[in-house]
Amino acid sequence: METKDIIIENYDAKKYQDAIKNFDCGNFNLNNFLKFADEIGTTFLFVESATGAVVGYISFACGGLKLDKYVSPAIEVKLFAVDKKYQSKIDKESNRTYAYFYFRSFIEYFRSISRDTIKADYVILHSLDDKSTHFYEKFDFKKFSNKDDQKKVLVGNFEIDCTPMYFAID
Ligand SMILES: CC(C)(COP(=O)(O)OP(=O)(O)OC[C@H]1O[C@@H](n2cnc3c(N)ncnc32)[C@H](O)[C@@H]1OP(=O)(O)O)[C@@H](O)C(=O)NCCC(=O)NCCS
Repeated sequence: METKDIIIENYDAKKYQDAIKNFDCGNFNLNNFLKFADEIGTTFLFVESATGAVVGYISFACGGLKLDKYVSPAIEVKLFAVDKKYQSKIDKESNRTYAYFYFRSFIEYFRSISRDTIKADYVILHSLDDKSTHFYEKFDFKKFSNKDDQKKVLVGNFEIDCTPMYFAID
């Protein structure tokens, strides 16, 4: 999952204090949540090895999805963001954008967790705007047809408007 230039690190607020402060994905809440992301989910940082800058991060937790009558086990991506400087930028090794490469890598990781560690039938998340929704649709995430009651998500103490989406792990 790592490349020559960027390493994946366990969240460490102390070690990456300055880099976390400087992180800017263009969304105030997602910048702010990074300061206490370990309270929200299991969090990994994508760190530029040369500078120690945080290129992006992902935070996830156990979840559940009720599509009809029964609740299915799920992995919930609580937070995912890439710094503005790296958005739409191509990683030379993978020839994909950084966002695409890391998100795809974590989808593969979720598949392996589900196979080897704890079963999950779905990955779920709450997209925050049209750009993110378009991004997640590239990974076959689907919007719900009738989940009007879930168009707000609580992250930390903040209630945020969102588009809930899901993806079936095969
Ligand atoms: C969401 C995010 C991780 C995507 O990273 P990125 O580097 O911009 O992603 P990519 O460049 O790979 O893809 C962005 C896609 O959105 C498209 N896009 C850009 N602005 C858009 C808009 N306003 N509406 C719809 N699509 C848009 C781009 O054209 C591109 O699609 P394409 O590859 O089909 O052309 C990044 O924008 C981010 O961190 N945003 C702030 C935090 C956030 O909102 N996170 C998601 C929380 S759910």
